[in-house]
Amino acid sequence: YPINKPREQDWSFAGPFGKYDKGQLQRGLKVYTEVCAACHSMNLVAFRTLGDLGYSEAQVKAFAANYEVQDGPNSDGEMYTRKAVPSDYFPSPFPNHEAAAAANNGAAPPDFSLIAKARGVTRGFPQFVFDIFTQYQEGGPDYIYSLLTGYQDPPEGVEVAEGTHYNPYFASAAALAMAKPLSDDQVTYDDGAPQTVDQYAHDVSAFLMWAAEPHLEARKRTGFMVMVFLLIFTGLIYLTKKSVYANKE
Ligand code: HEM
Repeated sequence: YPINKPREQDWSFAGPFGKYDKGQLQRGLKVYTEVCAACHSMNLVAFRTLGDLGYSEAQVKAFAANYEVQDGPNSDGEMYTRKAVPSDYFPSPFPNHEAAAAANNGAAPPDFSLIAKARGVTRGFPQFVFDIFTQYQEGGPDYIYSLLTGYQDPPEGVEVAEGTHYNPYFASAAALAMAKPLSDDQVTYDDGAPQTVDQYAHDVSAFLMWAAEPHLEARKRTGFMVMVFLLIFTGLIYLTKKSVYANKE
């Protein structure tokens, strides 16, 4: 079966001066927690980092308190559950990989912490270029967006295995174990953004980019300063060379 290339989207964080859109990240977090988190863990993301999305400390505390986490052993040597605090990480929906696979037709939903980077396919570059510059940013969200909005009826003559769903954007086969997770009006937005699959898919993809690369803006700023420095340095080296060799005919 042909596998479709991800459809390229405009992302606020694209390009050398790209920045996350905090409103979009907050909406993406809502989509993640209300829909995706039923199956997908995000083990490397701590609640405290949600401050990046524009939430106050009190809001982060209240958000974390919605969750229960395992802790221990306590002084009696027992494990126990307690309310989560900002220093905790998003808890997993399943106790382990086997349970996750068993609940999903044998395919465990991948962890989301780095998924936007892990699925960072190239935009028009040969694969080896991507292999070198693995920090390439927009390919992952393009892929996640395309996958979420790419479910369709299989073309005539194409049979998909039982328990799988046809999606020509899935990178490793024509059908995957995840059913179309999003539908219109499923998540309520309080900022007036459209409650459509298309908007949800954009928002959650941007959110997953942030989860995988929370320091993207600082990294881009540093990169820009490095380029400015190199430019000035090149000029200085050139002038030095001219001056040193000025009398050597
Ligand atoms: C796989 C995104 C909701 C179950 C995936 C993948 C992504 C993804 C990016 C990886 C595809 C790949 O390997 O290239 C999302 C998003 C969700 C969501 C953004 C929320 C909007 C769910 C839900 C379930 C689920 C609610 C369970 C009911 C799975 C499973 C796989 C998967 C089982 C593995 C598929 C396979 O390898 O065949 N999802 N997902 N997902 N997801 Fe989701």
